[in-house]
Amino acid sequence: MQNTSSFKPVRKAVFPIAGLGTRFLPATKVMPKEMLPLNDRPLIQHAFEEAREAGIEEFVFVTGRQKEMIEEHFDHQPELMRTLEQRGKDDMIDKVKTSEMSEAQLFCTRQANPLGLGHAIWCAKKLIGDEPFAIILPDDVIHWERGCLTQMMDAYNEHGGNIVAVKDVPREETYKYGIIDPASDNGKTVDIQGLVEKPDIDKAPSTLCVIGRYILQPEVFNYLSAFEKGTGGEIQLTDSMAKLIGNQPFHGLRFEGDHFDCGGRNGFIKANITYALKDPSLRDDIKSYIESIL
Ligand code: G1P
Repeated sequence: MQNTSSFKPVRKAVFPIAGLGTRFLPATKVMPKEMLPLNDRPLIQHAFEEAREAGIEEFVFVTGRQKEMIEEHFDHQPELMRTLEQRGKDDMIDKVKTSEMSEAQLFCTRQANPLGLGHAIWCAKKLIGDEPFAIILPDDVIHWERGCLTQMMDAYNEHGGNIVAVKDVPREETYKYGIIDPASDNGKTVDIQGLVEKPDIDKAPSTLCVIGRYILQPEVFNYLSAFEKGTGGEIQLTDSMAKLIGNQPFHGLRFEGDHFDCGGRNGFIKANITYALKDPSLRDDIKSYIESIL
């Protein structure tokens, strides 16, 4: 994607993937939750492809123990490719190639202790350096023709500063998310004057929650480096983002798309049904099956 704005381009994205995936046990006892398949590719590949579509050039994985399989997934697998070539499976070769990254694209670092999302992002500080960057939480899957991060890049090219993806949720659900305090709301973008992580329902400043897509300025690392604990005793990204407000522009983007929380079974199964119904090679079969069992 061509960068036509006057703001410093966003070339790097961080993927925090050290989480244990306890909501999926025992499936995730050994296998990383990011490797659970959504249609024909793992969750992490959906996140990677969304970032690549948005023009991201460097992909920073913040991993942890037992996550090596994710790096393997994005590596070149010569034996597999040779076998597919010998068997003339060109369509599969093309599919496998969608999951390959070169040495110049993939960078991994580790989060040794699960101290919170803010801490995971801080672990990427050296690899990000002094430039704006994106964050994608692979659990949050957003299905749309035009990827959510691409939509956010458009907003960034217009406003600069910091952008988070937001959506309206019922008030009873606000305690699960980072919630924004809107200063002004023009429908598509919202000017943010405050952010609270998982507030009590009666204290939520709005019903607009942050979904796992961010474009942030590197100054956020100054605040993350303080390692201050917040909600749930964790180092929260939300708390450090909140400190940028007032010094830099901070906007929420009401993205277009269907959001699924694939960190839990409900959202994951709904996402799989949706992706199957959108896939021409599966659609008719799955649709008639669903109709037959209802
Ligand atoms: C994290 C963030 C939260 C955000 C959410 C989106 O929470 O801390 O602000 O709203 O992701 O999925 P988690 O779901 O990791 O508890």
